[in-house]
Amino acid sequence: MQSDGKGILKELGKTGEKLTAIGIGTWKMSKTDESVMAIQAGLDEGSNFVDTAEYYMNEEMVGKAIKDREVFIATKVFPTHFRYDKVIKACEHSLSKLGRKSIDLYQLHWPNKHVPIEETMKAMEKLVDDGKIRYIGVSNFDIEELKEAQGAMKKYEIVSNQVEYSPMVTYIENGLLQYCQREKISVIAYSPLKHGSAMNIVSSKRSAISEIAEKHGASVPQVILRWIISKESVIAIPKSSNPERVKENIRSMHLDLNADEIAKIDESIREFKYSSTKAKFGPFISFFSRF
Ligand SMILES: NC(=O)c1ccc[n+]([C@@H]2O[C@H](COP(=O)([O-])OP(=O)(O)OC[C@H]3O[C@@H](n4cnc5c(N)ncnc54)[C@H](OP(=O)(O)O)[C@@H]3O)[C@@H](O)[C@H]2O)c1
Repeated sequence: MQSDGKGILKELGKTGEKLTAIGIGTWKMSKTDESVMAIQAGLDEGSNFVDTAEYYMNEEMVGKAIKDREVFIATKVFPTHFRYDKVIKACEHSLSKLGRKSIDLYQLHWPNKHVPIEETMKAMEKLVDDGKIRYIGVSNFDIEELKEAQGAMKKYEIVSNQVEYSPMVTYIENGLLQYCQREKISVIAYSPLKHGSAMNIVSSKRSAISEIAEKHGASVPQVILRWIISKESVIAIPKSSNPERVKENIRSMHLDLNADEIAKIDESIREFKYSSTKAKFGPFISFFSRF
C-alpha cells in the first residue's frame, strides 16, 4: 500500500500497475450526461480506475467519460459468452463501445460450469497475445474456481477477483480473502455500501462506524470504504450517479483511521449476518449461463 497526495495506491496483482484504492463502479448508471459527469468528477478527484461490464449496457457512456483521459479501464464478459469465439466477439464489442484499443482488465463476470474453463481461458490468453486486453481477472470466483481458472492458463496469471465485500457481507474473510492475499491476487470489493443500504443499517443502531465517523467529521460511507481498503490487497469500487457523492467516496482515501479504530469496526460488524449476492443469485446465474 502506498499513499501520496492523490490517495492510496495499491498494486494490481503482481503487475506493478498502481490503482487508486477507490475505483468507480458503474452498475445501474444510466447512459446520460449526468453519469458522464459523475465519472469525470471521480477522475478529477483522483481516482484512476473505472469498472464496467458488457452486462451493464453502459460501456458507450463510460467510453465517453474516459475519452482522452489516462484511466485504467476494467470491463467484464458475461458467462453466456464463455465459448471461445464468443469471448473474442464480446471483447471486440466492448472495445468498440469503450472507444479503446485495449482493455486494461478483462474479467469473467461469474463462473460458468457449463463451458470448460480451458476453452474460456484459452480465449482470454489469445486476447492478451493480440494486445486487446492487458490483464485477466475474474469475478465471483471461490478458491476452487480460482485454482481451476489459473490451472487452465498456459502463460498468464489471474490478477484480480472481484467479489462482494462490505461490513455487512464478509464471507470472503472465511478463507477467500486470505487466499487472494497469499497469492497476490487483488480483491476488488463490489457493493461496498451494500447497494446503498449500508448507511441505514449503520444508523439504525449506535455502531462503531457511526461513532468513528462523528469523531473524524467524516460520513458513514467514508468510514466504511476506508475500513474496506485498510485490508491488504483490497480495492473498493462504490457506485454513485451523483458527482458530490462520488467525490465524497473517493476522499475516503484521505481519512486516517488507526489500527484500534479498524479493530473496533472488525469487532462491531460481527453482528451483521447478511447473505451475499453470490449465495442469493449465483444458482440462478449458473442456471441461465447454460443457454
Ligand atoms: N462483479 C459483480 O458481480 C458485481 C455485482 C455488483 C456490483 N458490481 C460493481 O460494484 C459497483 C458497486 O456496487 P453497487 O453498485 O452494487 O453498490 P454500492 O456501491 O454498494 O452502492 C451503490 C448505492 O449507494 C448509493 N451511494 C453511493 N455513495 C453514496 C454516498 N456517499 N452517500 C449516500 N449514498 C451513496 C448510490 O446511490 P446514488 O447513485 O444515488 O448516489 C447507490 O444507490 C457496481 O457499480 C459495479 O461496478 C459488480
